[in-house]
Amino acid sequence: MTQEFQNIAVIGLGYVGLPLALQFAASGVKVLGVDIDPAKVDAINAGRTYIKHIAAEAISQAIGAGSFSGSADFARVSECDAVIICVPTPLTKTREPDLSYVLDTTRAIAAHLKPGALVVLESTTYPGTTEEEMRPILEAGSGKIAGADFHLAYSPEREDPGTAGSKIGKVPKIVGGYTPQCLAKAVALYSIAVETVVPLSSCRAAEATKLLENIFRSVNIALVNELKVIYSAMGIDIWEVIEGAKTKPFGFMPFYPGPGLGGHCIPIDPFYLAWKAREFGKHTRFIELAGEINTAMLEYVVQRLTEVLNAQGKPVKGSKILLLGLAYKPNVDDMRESPTFALLDLLKARQAELAYYDPHIPVIGSTREHSQWQGMRSVEWNEATIPASMRSSS
Ligand SMILES: NC(=O)c1ccc[n+]([C@@H]2O[C@H](COP(=O)([O-])OP(=O)(O)OC[C@H]3O[C@@H](n4cnc5c(N)ncnc54)[C@H](O)[C@@H]3O)[C@@H](O)[C@H]2O)c1
Repeated sequence: MTQEFQNIAVIGLGYVGLPLALQFAASGVKVLGVDIDPAKVDAINAGRTYIKHIAAEAISQAIGAGSFSGSADFARVSECDAVIICVPTPLTKTREPDLSYVLDTTRAIAAHLKPGALVVLESTTYPGTTEEEMRPILEAGSGKIAGADFHLAYSPEREDPGTAGSKIGKVPKIVGGYTPQCLAKAVALYSIAVETVVPLSSCRAAEATKLLENIFRSVNIALVNELKVIYSAMGIDIWEVIEGAKTKPFGFMPFYPGPGLGGHCIPIDPFYLAWKAREFGKHTRFIELAGEINTAMLEYVVQRLTEVLNAQGKPVKGSKILLLGLAYKPNVDDMRESPTFALLDLLKARQAELAYYDPHIPVIGSTREHSQWQGMRSVEWNEATIPASMRSSS
């Protein structure tokens, strides 16, 4: 094992940080998991999971082996050779980047950095965050110089929650460093836990790479959503068309239409670039257009639903409507940015009688934006709530 990284800290033990911490722990590194949420820290130390697709056994084994422990004490990063930051990067109410979590964490660790330690940001963000926003805070708070007294790098997560066979260690990991030595350190760190590490020339290039990956998806989903509406008007089934196009063995990649984007990445990350681009006097037209088209799909779904009910002589008001799926994608319990919430809001405004079914989210817990739905329960998947006739035709 590489001797220079015996103890590391992973800060932010959510969908990204927890599996990453476990991957390092399973690779022979002693991992300190740090989170401001005491419930998560307690769960970790008790060997319990709070993310459905992460097994409690993986946590309890690592805890039992002494290779993983949870803490809310940022001062303990002084024990660590590397600190990896995986905290949220949402948008503010006015849809601007909210770096407060990243910067709060940066301030909290700065005074406790071990000499020579490596600090890596994993949170998705705009180019320049690591070097322009974090570096001055780390240098001021530690009295140390980046690239000399401590090292700094950026490495985006490529977590694919809920997809069977998705293994962190197998997915190539992009890394950019503040200096060539920072890069070498970061490559050495990730090589302990990940099979393929891909070095890039700078933190900014690595930050920009992650945004390209997510913008690529947002734009292509918008394209197929637009085609869905157009082909539908022509009486053509988009799903059949996509299946047909998929048989082309080169130059095509399938994307699928839906009621809108969800999750913590695709609806949000492109706007980090849009915001930063304005500083350079540049407009991100593809990003804005994709956002507009993807958001408009909600109204399209409601319009189609209204037409279908109308054809049966029914208004939306008073109709019983069941939404299938609350999580933003299959096989996860993550409901962040799920378009189902917006559909619930739109249909409630039209006085429909609403229910949802999602085996991964039996009850809606607390959310920042959708508190009016807190406590609502998923219906059971049985004859009483979903008659067989509906199931076979769905
Ligand atoms: N979820 C994904 O599939 C995914 C994929 C790739 C990249 N990302 C990016 O990774 C980052 C983290 O996303 P996530 O899905 O893991 O978020 P998450 O909300 O699941 O987890 C973030 C964790 O950070 C903790 N936290 C918040 N502020 C903190 C602070 N100041 N100090 C310590 N801990 C703090 C929270 O309590 C939470 O446990 C985001 O930038 C996101 O865009 C997410």
